[in-house]
Amino acid sequence: MISVAIDGPSGAGKSTISRKAAELYGFIYVDTGAIYRTIGLASKLYGIDADNSAAVVEMLPKLSIKMMYNDAGEQRMYLDGNDVSRDIRLPEVSMLASKVSAIPEVRAFLVEMQRSMAREHDVIMDGRDIGTVILPDADLKIFLTADAEDRARRRYDELTAKGVECSFDEVLADMIKRDEQDTARAAAPLKPADDAVLLDTSGNTLGQSIEAVCGLISEKTGRQAVKR
Ligand code: DC
Repeated sequence: MISVAIDGPSGAGKSTISRKAAELYGFIYVDTGAIYRTIGLASKLYGIDADNSAAVVEMLPKLSIKMMYNDAGEQRMYLDGNDVSRDIRLPEVSMLASKVSAIPEVRAFLVEMQRSMAREHDVIMDGRDIGTVILPDADLKIFLTADAEDRARRRYDELTAKGVECSFDEVLADMIKRDEQDTARAAAPLKPADDAVLLDTSGNTLGQSIEAVCGLISEKTGRQAVKR
């Protein structure tokens, strides 16, 4: 099996680029942020303070979290039997996901779900600790970054396109805070693996970033895109 790990801060284009590259190479795209988001959403739905680690940890065994792929190959998240794929995208849930993801027990709870995907399929997996913790033997590791303003602009455009009301300044402030939290935490912090290729997408068009990632995939895995 081939595995490609793509890590980096929020809004660097990880999910859009990974999804497209996976489609081109016939790999499965695994969005690991969606799993943390599902736990973040669960804390909200069950009225649990995401800053209260003990309460979050106590909630974990009561949750049923499932990751499934529909006929179109899209990853869907289910919480206690309900499809929550849309709800987990709310900005409020981004911050809750970042908070619960700093809890070591939450990370441990999700390790096997992520690794089993890579055992069973060729994957492009994106997140914060894929190259460092989840798939340390990945065939290719990419650390994707871009200027904070660039990243906030992309995230803002994405949210407004989905009809979510927000201001650019709010999105930028939220993103900077979340990146600080994700980088400063003790458990699996956001950082490039020693053997990761650093890719700065500032000023790139989406097409250029996809080209760059696909070039690396072909070079490191020996696979060629099956679809163009
Ligand atoms: O990729 P995202 O923005 O959907 O992720 C939401 C939060 O989940 C992010 O702020 C940090 C956390 N996360 C993580 O800690 N480890 C991952 N592999 C993926 C996401």
